[in-house]
Amino acid sequence: MDRRNFIKKTLLGTGALVVGGAPAVSQIVKASEKRNVPVFGPDLKTAGGRKHTPFVKAPKRVKAGEWFDVFVEVGHYKPHPNTMTHWIESVALYIDKFEVASARFRATQGAPRATFTVKVDKPGKVTLRGFGYCNIHGLWVSLPVEVEVV
Ligand SMILES: [Fe+2]
Repeated sequence: MDRRNFIKKTLLGTGALVVGGAPAVSQIVKASEKRNVPVFGPDLKTAGGRKHTPFVKAPKRVKAGEWFDVFVEVGHYKPHPNTMTHWIESVALYIDKFEVASARFRATQGAPRATFTVKVDKPGKVTLRGFGYCNIHGLWVSLPVEVEVV
């Protein structure tokens, strides 16, 4: 079984693919956590990895309870195709284990990037991760980004 069929079969087996519309990346991440659906990356060594691994840009230090911006993009390291048959359906931002924001895109018309405004109420360190979902190559995670909350 090639990789594409493996991913499709695995996602169909989890019910992550919804009839009548593409699944939100949060549904796919939850399915992944429950059923061991593969999450690829981060991979900046291969061309395919660079096309799919999300890039996350955030301040290194923020104040507790204050809004700050986090930029998430798929295609930052190497452009990803954006055609009617192959595109990034969605990106999401996680703070530690919780999804705090996501964005969905139409094929050819939506660039797979978004700036999310978020906050963390408690001082300490948090880990940000971006997720991106390619309709063909599945779910990909970013490198972790540490943020100090003071
Ligand atoms: Fe792809």
